[in-house]
Amino acid sequence: MNVKLFSPFTIKDVTFKNRIVMAPMCMYSSHNKDGHIQNWHRTHYTTRAVGQVGLIIVEATAVTPQGRISPQDLGIWSDDHIDGFKEIVSLMKEHGAKTGIQLAHAGRKAVLEGEILAPSAISFNEKMKTPKEMTKADIAETVEAFKKGAERAAKAGFDVIEIHGAHGYLINEFLSPLSNKRTDEYGGPADHRYRFLSEVIDAVKSVWEGPLFVRVSAHDYNEDGLTPEDYITFSQWMKDQGVDLIDVSSGGVAPAQINVYPGYQVKYSETIKNGTEIPTGAVGLITTGKQAEEILQNDRADLVFLARELLRDPYWPRTAAKELGVQIEAPKQYERGWI
Ligand SMILES: Cc1cc2nc3c(=O)[nH]c(=O)nc-3n(C[C@H](O)[C@H](O)[C@H](O)COP(=O)(O)O)c2cc1C
Repeated sequence: MNVKLFSPFTIKDVTFKNRIVMAPMCMYSSHNKDGHIQNWHRTHYTTRAVGQVGLIIVEATAVTPQGRISPQDLGIWSDDHIDGFKEIVSLMKEHGAKTGIQLAHAGRKAVLEGEILAPSAISFNEKMKTPKEMTKADIAETVEAFKKGAERAAKAGFDVIEIHGAHGYLINEFLSPLSNKRTDEYGGPADHRYRFLSEVIDAVKSVWEGPLFVRVSAHDYNEDGLTPEDYITFSQWMKDQGVDLIDVSSGGVAPAQINVYPGYQVKYSETIKNGTEIPTGAVGLITTGKQAEEILQNDRADLVFLARELLRDPYWPRTAAKELGVQIEAPKQYERGWI
Protein backbone atom coordinates (compact mmCIF):
# COMPACT_ATOMS: atom_id res chain seq x y z
CA MET A 1 0.00 0.00 0.00
CA ASN A 2 1.30 3.44 -0.92
CA VAL A 3 1.46 5.76 2.04
CA LYS A 4 -0.63 8.71 0.95
CA LEU A 5 0.43 11.00 3.81
CA PHE A 6 3.85 11.34 2.22
CA SER A 7 2.69 11.64 -1.36
CA PRO A 8 2.86 15.08 -2.98
CA PHE A 9 -0.20 17.21 -3.64
CA THR A 10 -0.39 19.90 -6.30
CA ILE A 11 -2.75 22.84 -6.51
CA LYS A 12 -2.27 25.19 -9.46
CA ASP A 13 1.51 25.20 -9.91
CA VAL A 14 2.33 24.67 -6.23
CA THR A 15 3.36 21.18 -5.06
CA PHE A 16 3.43 20.31 -1.37
CA LYS A 17 5.92 17.53 -0.67
CA ASN A 18 3.44 15.72 1.58
CA ARG A 19 -0.15 16.05 2.82
CA ILE A 20 0.78 17.45 6.23
CA VAL A 21 -0.34 21.01 6.91
CA MET A 22 0.43 23.06 9.98
CA ALA A 23 -2.91 24.66 10.81
CA PRO A 24 -2.91 28.39 11.54
CA MET A 25 -2.31 29.08 15.22
CA CYS A 26 -2.22 32.55 16.77
CA MET A 27 0.93 33.02 18.78
CA TYR A 28 -0.12 36.36 20.32
CA SER A 29 3.53 37.34 20.22
CA SER A 30 3.65 40.63 18.41
CA HIS A 31 4.72 42.26 21.66
CA ASN A 32 4.92 45.85 20.43
CA LYS A 33 1.24 45.62 19.52
CA ASP A 34 2.06 46.71 15.99
CA GLY A 35 1.41 43.42 14.18
CA HIS A 36 5.06 42.81 13.31
CA ILE A 37 6.96 39.51 13.09
CA GLN A 38 9.17 38.79 16.11
CA ASN A 39 11.99 36.33 16.80
CA TRP A 40 9.39 33.97 18.23
CA HIS A 41 7.74 33.66 14.81
CA ARG A 42 11.08 33.20 13.08
CA THR A 43 11.95 30.27 15.36
CA HIS A 44 8.48 28.75 15.65
CA TYR A 45 7.66 28.54 11.94
CA THR A 46 11.17 27.60 10.80
CA THR A 47 11.26 24.70 13.28
CA ARG A 48 8.20 23.09 11.66
CA ALA A 49 9.82 23.50 8.24
CA VAL A 50 12.91 21.68 9.55
CA GLY A 51 10.45 19.07 10.83
CA GLN A 52 9.35 18.44 7.20
CA VAL A 53 5.82 19.82 7.33
CA GLY A 54 4.61 20.15 3.71
CA LEU A 55 2.62 23.36 4.07
CA ILE A 56 2.87 25.78 6.96
CA ILE A 57 0.01 28.25 7.32
CA VAL A 58 0.98 31.30 9.32
CA GLU A 59 -1.49 32.24 12.05
CA ALA A 60 -4.57 34.46 11.66
CA THR A 61 -3.12 37.76 10.46
CA ALA A 62 -5.29 40.82 10.73
CA VAL A 63 -6.12 42.85 7.64
CA THR A 64 -7.04 45.89 9.75
CA PRO A 65 -5.96 46.92 13.28
CA GLN A 66 -9.48 46.50 14.67
CA GLY A 67 -9.67 43.10 12.97
CA ARG A 68 -7.22 41.65 15.49
CA ILE A 69 -8.35 39.20 18.13
CA SER A 70 -5.85 40.74 20.57
CA PRO A 71 -3.32 43.59 20.44
CA GLN A 72 -0.52 41.00 20.10
CA ASP A 73 -1.83 39.50 16.85
CA LEU A 74 0.16 39.62 13.64
CA GLY A 75 -1.04 42.18 11.11
CA ILE A 76 -0.79 42.82 7.40
CA TRP A 77 -2.61 46.15 7.22
CA SER A 78 0.50 48.12 6.26
CA ASP A 79 3.31 47.84 3.71
CA ASP A 80 5.68 47.98 6.70
CA HIS A 81 4.60 44.44 7.57
CA ILE A 82 5.83 42.91 4.30
CA ASP A 83 9.53 42.59 5.17
CA GLY A 84 8.92 40.53 8.31
CA PHE A 85 6.76 38.08 6.38
CA LYS A 86 9.32 37.96 3.55
CA GLU A 87 11.89 36.90 6.10
CA ILE A 88 9.86 34.04 7.61
CA VAL A 89 8.72 32.86 4.17
CA SER A 90 12.33 32.64 3.06
CA LEU A 91 13.33 30.82 6.27
CA MET A 92 10.55 28.24 5.85
CA LYS A 93 11.28 27.76 2.15
CA GLU A 94 14.97 27.20 2.86
CA HIS A 95 13.86 23.94 4.50
CA GLY A 96 11.54 22.81 1.72
CA ALA A 97 8.18 23.83 3.15
CA LYS A 98 5.49 25.59 1.20
CA THR A 99 4.07 28.61 2.95
CA GLY A 100 0.63 30.00 3.54
CA ILE A 101 -0.91 32.86 5.48
CA GLN A 102 -4.36 33.09 7.00
CA LEU A 103 -5.93 36.49 6.33
CA ALA A 104 -8.36 37.35 9.08
CA HIS A 105 -10.73 39.82 10.68
CA ALA A 106 -11.95 39.09 14.20
CA GLY A 107 -15.27 40.94 13.94
CA ARG A 108 -17.19 40.83 17.21
CA LYS A 109 -14.64 38.51 18.81
CA ALA A 110 -11.95 41.20 18.92
CA VAL A 111 -10.75 41.92 22.45
CA LEU A 112 -9.44 45.41 21.85
CA GLU A 113 -9.92 48.95 23.00
CA GLY A 114 -12.27 51.09 20.93
CA GLU A 115 -14.97 50.20 18.47
CA ILE A 116 -15.27 46.68 17.11
CA LEU A 117 -17.24 45.68 14.02
CA ALA A 118 -19.74 42.98 13.08
CA PRO A 119 -22.64 42.42 10.68
CA SER A 120 -25.10 43.13 13.52
CA ALA A 121 -24.80 44.86 16.89
CA ILE A 122 -25.02 41.65 18.91
CA SER A 123 -22.26 40.59 21.30
CA PHE A 124 -20.88 37.02 21.29
CA ASN A 125 -21.83 36.64 24.97
CA GLU A 126 -22.54 38.88 27.95
CA LYS A 127 -18.83 39.23 28.78
CA MET A 128 -17.84 40.54 25.35
CA LYS A 129 -18.24 43.96 23.80
CA THR A 130 -21.25 44.83 21.71
CA PRO A 131 -19.95 45.52 18.21
CA LYS A 132 -21.04 48.29 15.91
CA GLU A 133 -23.21 47.15 12.99
CA MET A 134 -21.09 47.66 9.91
CA THR A 135 -22.22 50.27 7.42
CA LYS A 136 -21.89 49.64 3.70
CA ALA A 137 -18.79 51.85 3.79
CA ASP A 138 -17.30 49.68 6.60
CA ILE A 139 -18.00 46.60 4.48
CA ALA A 140 -16.36 48.10 1.39
CA GLU A 141 -13.32 49.20 3.43
CA THR A 142 -12.94 45.74 4.96
CA VAL A 143 -13.20 44.00 1.58
CA GLU A 144 -10.51 46.38 0.32
CA ALA A 145 -8.37 45.56 3.38
CA PHE A 146 -8.52 41.84 2.51
CA LYS A 147 -7.43 42.75 -1.03
CA LYS A 148 -4.50 44.83 0.22
CA GLY A 149 -3.59 42.03 2.64
CA ALA A 150 -3.52 39.55 -0.24
CA GLU A 151 -1.39 41.90 -2.31
CA ARG A 152 1.10 42.18 0.53
CA ALA A 153 1.06 38.40 1.09
CA ALA A 154 1.95 37.97 -2.59
CA LYS A 155 4.81 40.47 -2.22
CA ALA A 156 6.08 38.53 0.80
CA GLY A 157 6.29 35.38 -1.36
CA PHE A 158 3.65 33.15 0.22
CA ASP A 159 2.54 30.13 -1.84
CA VAL A 160 -1.00 29.92 -0.45
CA ILE A 161 -3.56 32.34 0.94
CA GLU A 162 -6.20 31.09 3.32
CA ILE A 163 -9.18 33.31 4.08
CA HIS A 164 -10.38 32.86 7.67
CA GLY A 165 -14.10 32.21 7.38
CA ALA A 166 -14.37 30.09 10.55
CA HIS A 167 -14.54 30.14 14.35
CA GLY A 168 -17.04 32.96 14.71
CA TYR A 169 -14.86 35.71 13.32
CA LEU A 170 -16.12 38.36 10.93
CA ILE A 171 -16.75 36.29 7.77
CA ASN A 172 -18.36 33.50 9.79
CA GLU A 173 -20.53 36.14 11.49
CA PHE A 174 -21.86 37.22 8.11
CA LEU A 175 -22.52 33.62 7.01
CA SER A 176 -24.44 32.49 10.09
CA PRO A 177 -28.03 33.59 10.77
CA LEU A 178 -27.15 33.44 14.49
CA SER A 179 -24.94 36.52 14.21
CA ASN A 180 -26.21 38.16 11.03
CA LYS A 181 -29.58 39.85 11.51
CA ARG A 182 -29.16 42.42 8.75
CA THR A 183 -32.09 43.40 6.61
CA ASP A 184 -30.07 44.73 3.66
CA GLU A 185 -28.48 42.69 0.85
CA TYR A 186 -25.83 41.34 3.25
CA GLY A 187 -28.38 39.57 5.49
CA GLY A 188 -31.41 37.32 5.25
CA PRO A 189 -31.29 34.37 2.80
CA ALA A 190 -28.13 32.29 2.36
CA ASP A 191 -26.96 34.03 -0.82
CA HIS A 192 -27.24 37.41 0.93
CA ARG A 193 -25.32 36.18 3.99
CA TYR A 194 -22.71 34.80 1.58
CA ARG A 195 -22.30 38.16 -0.20
CA PHE A 196 -19.56 39.50 2.10
CA LEU A 197 -17.40 36.36 1.69
CA SER A 198 -18.10 36.42 -2.04
CA GLU A 199 -16.82 40.01 -2.26
CA VAL A 200 -13.74 39.12 -0.18
CA ILE A 201 -12.95 36.16 -2.47
CA ASP A 202 -13.33 38.29 -5.61
CA ALA A 203 -11.18 41.05 -4.12
CA VAL A 204 -8.44 38.61 -3.12
CA LYS A 205 -8.54 36.88 -6.48
CA SER A 206 -8.16 40.22 -8.29
CA VAL A 207 -4.59 40.41 -6.91
CA TRP A 208 -3.76 36.74 -6.24
CA GLU A 209 -3.41 33.94 -8.77
CA GLY A 210 -2.04 31.25 -6.44
CA PRO A 211 -3.86 28.56 -4.47
CA LEU A 212 -6.70 29.97 -2.40
CA PHE A 213 -8.09 28.16 0.65
CA VAL A 214 -11.05 29.17 2.81
CA ARG A 215 -11.38 27.90 6.36
CA VAL A 216 -14.99 27.37 7.38
CA SER A 217 -16.86 26.34 10.49
CA ALA A 218 -19.11 23.70 8.95
CA HIS A 219 -21.35 23.34 12.00
CA ASP A 220 -22.79 25.98 14.35
CA TYR A 221 -23.98 23.32 16.84
CA ASN A 222 -27.19 25.26 17.31
CA GLU A 223 -30.66 24.33 16.09
CA ASP A 224 -31.06 27.76 14.48
CA GLY A 225 -27.57 27.73 13.02
CA LEU A 226 -25.75 26.32 10.00
CA THR A 227 -24.99 22.67 9.31
CA PRO A 228 -22.56 20.85 6.99
CA GLU A 229 -25.36 20.64 4.40
CA ASP A 230 -25.53 24.46 4.31
CA TYR A 231 -21.79 24.45 3.76
CA ILE A 232 -22.14 22.17 0.73
CA THR A 233 -24.01 25.07 -0.89
CA PHE A 234 -21.50 27.71 0.26
CA SER A 235 -18.63 25.47 -0.89
CA GLN A 236 -20.21 25.07 -4.32
CA TRP A 237 -20.38 28.85 -4.60
CA MET A 238 -16.77 29.15 -3.43
CA LYS A 239 -15.70 26.55 -5.98
CA ASP A 240 -17.53 28.49 -8.70
CA GLN A 241 -15.59 31.60 -7.65
CA GLY A 242 -12.28 29.77 -7.98
CA VAL A 243 -11.51 28.73 -4.39
CA ASP A 244 -9.17 25.72 -4.51
CA LEU A 245 -9.66 24.03 -1.14
CA ILE A 246 -11.99 24.19 1.85
CA ASP A 247 -10.30 23.78 5.23
CA VAL A 248 -13.09 22.30 7.31
CA SER A 249 -13.32 23.24 10.97
CA SER A 250 -16.44 23.88 13.09
CA GLY A 251 -17.98 25.95 15.86
CA GLY A 252 -17.26 29.31 17.42
CA VAL A 253 -19.96 31.56 16.04
CA ALA A 254 -22.13 31.22 19.14
CA PRO A 255 -21.56 29.59 22.52
CA ALA A 256 -22.21 25.82 22.22
CA GLN A 257 -21.50 22.45 23.80
CA ILE A 258 -19.32 20.52 21.37
CA ASN A 259 -18.68 16.82 21.70
CA VAL A 260 -15.01 16.49 20.80
CA TYR A 261 -13.16 13.23 20.14
CA PRO A 262 -10.31 12.20 17.82
CA GLY A 263 -11.07 13.34 14.28
CA TYR A 264 -14.45 14.79 15.30
CA GLN A 265 -14.58 17.22 12.37
CA VAL A 266 -13.39 14.82 9.66
CA LYS A 267 -16.96 13.86 8.80
CA TYR A 268 -17.70 17.47 7.87
CA SER A 269 -14.74 17.49 5.51
CA GLU A 270 -16.10 14.30 3.98
CA THR A 271 -19.58 15.79 3.60
CA ILE A 272 -18.24 18.86 1.81
CA LYS A 273 -15.78 16.89 -0.33
CA ASN A 274 -18.49 14.49 -1.50
CA GLY A 275 -21.22 17.11 -1.78
CA THR A 276 -19.20 19.67 -3.72
CA GLU A 277 -16.35 17.75 -5.32
CA ILE A 278 -13.81 20.25 -4.09
CA PRO A 279 -10.54 19.37 -2.35
CA THR A 280 -10.76 19.65 1.43
CA GLY A 281 -8.56 19.69 4.49
CA ALA A 282 -9.53 17.86 7.68
CA VAL A 283 -8.58 19.28 11.08
CA GLY A 284 -9.26 18.67 14.74
CA LEU A 285 -7.71 16.15 17.13
CA ILE A 286 -5.70 14.41 14.44
CA THR A 287 -2.61 13.20 16.26
CA THR A 288 -1.31 9.92 14.82
CA GLY A 289 0.07 8.85 11.48
CA LYS A 290 -2.44 6.01 11.23
CA GLN A 291 -5.33 8.37 11.83
CA ALA A 292 -4.07 10.79 9.17
CA GLU A 293 -3.48 7.96 6.71
CA GLU A 294 -6.99 6.53 7.23
CA ILE A 295 -8.49 9.94 6.40
CA LEU A 296 -6.51 10.19 3.17
CA GLN A 297 -6.88 6.57 2.08
CA ASN A 298 -10.66 6.82 2.40
CA ASP A 299 -10.75 10.12 0.50
CA ARG A 300 -12.26 11.93 3.47
CA ALA A 301 -9.88 14.84 2.81
CA ASP A 302 -6.96 15.72 0.55
CA LEU A 303 -4.80 17.30 3.23
CA VAL A 304 -4.56 16.81 6.99
CA PHE A 305 -4.17 19.88 9.14
CA LEU A 306 -2.54 19.55 12.54
CA ALA A 307 -2.41 22.23 15.19
CA ARG A 308 -1.67 21.26 18.81
CA GLU A 309 0.18 18.04 17.96
CA LEU A 310 2.67 20.16 16.02
CA LEU A 311 3.18 22.33 19.11
CA ARG A 312 4.05 19.22 21.10
CA ASP A 313 6.12 17.62 18.34
CA PRO A 314 7.50 19.96 15.67
CA TYR A 315 9.02 16.91 13.95
CA TRP A 316 5.67 15.12 13.76
CA PRO A 317 6.19 14.17 10.09
CA ARG A 318 9.16 12.07 11.23
CA THR A 319 7.09 10.55 14.06
CA ALA A 320 4.26 9.68 11.64
CA ALA A 321 6.69 8.24 9.08
CA LYS A 322 8.17 5.93 11.70
CA GLU A 323 4.69 4.86 12.77
CA LEU A 324 3.71 4.14 9.16
CA GLY A 325 6.97 2.34 8.39
CA VAL A 326 8.31 4.74 5.79
CA GLN A 327 11.45 6.79 5.62
CA ILE A 328 11.30 10.46 4.81
CA GLU A 329 14.03 12.87 3.92
CA ALA A 330 15.90 14.42 6.82
CA PRO A 331 17.54 17.80 6.92
CA LYS A 332 21.11 16.97 5.89
CA GLN A 333 22.47 18.17 9.21
CA TYR A 334 20.21 15.75 11.12
CA GLU A 335 20.72 12.63 9.02
CA ARG A 336 22.74 10.83 11.70
CA GLY A 337 19.92 11.16 14.19
CA TRP A 338 16.84 10.97 12.02
CA ILE A 339 16.27 7.20 11.55
C1 LIG B 1 -2.76 28.14 20.16
C2 LIG B 1 -3.81 28.01 19.11
C3 LIG B 1 -4.06 29.07 18.26
C4 LIG B 1 -5.01 28.95 17.23
N1 LIG B 1 -5.16 29.98 16.33
C5 LIG B 1 -5.90 29.79 15.22
C6 LIG B 1 -5.87 30.72 14.16
O1 LIG B 1 -5.10 31.68 14.15
N2 LIG B 1 -6.68 30.49 13.10
C7 LIG B 1 -7.50 29.38 13.02
O2 LIG B 1 -8.24 29.23 12.04
N3 LIG B 1 -7.52 28.46 14.01
C8 LIG B 1 -6.71 28.62 15.07
N4 LIG B 1 -6.65 27.64 16.03
C9 LIG B 1 -7.36 26.38 15.79
C10 LIG B 1 -6.44 25.34 15.12
O3 LIG B 1 -5.99 25.78 13.84
C11 LIG B 1 -7.13 23.98 14.98
O4 LIG B 1 -8.22 24.13 14.11
C12 LIG B 1 -7.62 23.43 16.31
O5 LIG B 1 -6.62 23.59 17.32
C13 LIG B 1 -7.97 21.95 16.20
O6 LIG B 1 -6.87 21.20 15.72
P1 LIG B 1 -5.91 20.34 16.72
O7 LIG B 1 -6.79 19.38 17.45
O8 LIG B 1 -4.94 19.66 15.77
O9 LIG B 1 -5.24 21.28 17.65
C14 LIG B 1 -5.74 27.75 17.08
C15 LIG B 1 -5.53 26.70 17.98
C16 LIG B 1 -4.56 26.81 18.96
C17 LIG B 1 -4.31 25.63 19.87
